[in-house]
Amino acid sequence: MNSDTTSGAGFNSEKKMKFQKNFPHVISITSGKGGVGKTLTTVNLALSARRLGLKVLVLDGDMGLANVDVVLGLQARYNINDVLEGRIGINSIILDGPLGVKIIPSGSGICQLAQLSFVQRIALLEQLEQLNEDFDVLVIDTSAGIADTVLHLNSVAEQSIIVTTPEPHAMTDAYAMIKVLSDQKKQPNISLMVNMAKSEMEGQQVYNRLSDVANRFIGKDIKYLGMIPFDPQIQKSVAQRRAASEFTTHTNAGQAWNKIAQNIFDNQGEPGIREQDQIWRELVWVNQSNAQLSSI
Ligand SMILES: Nc1ncnc2c1ncn2[C@@H]1O[C@H](COP(=O)(O)OP(=O)(O)O)[C@@H](O)[C@H]1O
Ligand SMILES: [Mg+2]
Repeated sequence: MNSDTTSGAGFNSEKKMKFQKNFPHVISITSGKGGVGKTLTTVNLALSARRLGLKVLVLDGDMGLANVDVVLGLQARYNINDVLEGRIGINSIILDGPLGVKIIPSGSGICQLAQLSFVQRIALLEQLEQLNEDFDVLVIDTSAGIADTVLHLNSVAEQSIIVTTPEPHAMTDAYAMIKVLSDQKKQPNISLMVNMAKSEMEGQQVYNRLSDVANRFIGKDIKYLGMIPFDPQIQKSVAQRRAASEFTTHTNAGQAWNKIAQNIFDNQGEPGIREQDQIWRELVWVNQSNAQLSSI
């Protein structure tokens, strides 16, 4: 990553050294139900991490309407499919976002990683290994639901953040996600973030219910990251396609995201000790994880 991307973002080398020993390399943002705020969470965590001086790469693993690039006020000309089809090298598809966040734009190749052929995976790995960027943290925005690729992307992460709203369907689907992730051979730490909550209390209640059920029925401890208030300004900003960085600092929701990011990057007990190349190998090598493989 260019050195200029680390300046002007509150970079503090002493603090950064501390973070590098303590935070997870790979964080996935996932959910059972769509439209709960995964992409906004991805973007806000990425921007917050940049403010803390971390080098951040976002992998957009969802092809929703409001993709990472759109929410950041960018437009991707190329995506991972152009790379897979040999039209362009990986370094040419990376987008430069606000504050120096780097983004690998979505494409069906990433969204259907579990369906890629062996040859395609090797080609993708070769490309990823050629990335000019190095990163302190990779944030993966996944699709909703328990498709093979979503499970695989979560298995690459040290920490999976499950996003839910207080809405009963979203909670039921969040529980299904927790259950399926807990059945996998390679499990990330699972934490919960409650978005669009009316109050701290409502967020806490949603967490209590889900963690209680997860504990009782699957013996799984879920960490609570906190809640993001429902904030009409967020909807306005998204509709106007204003870059997310604007509302991260000025709105209640933005500040709540910032606080959660600070907790993640400050308080991790165990370091993410993988080499970057190993992360890429785990990412493309679906066989090593739990996703069912299509024919190679
Ligand atoms: N905290 C919030 N307050 C108000 N609206 C929100 C909030 N978080 C998300 N939204 C709304 O939900 C929509 C979906 O969010 P998004 O991050 O795209 O969800 P997902 O990626 O899970 O599909 C946003 O476009 C926005 O209108
Ligand atoms: Mg999304």
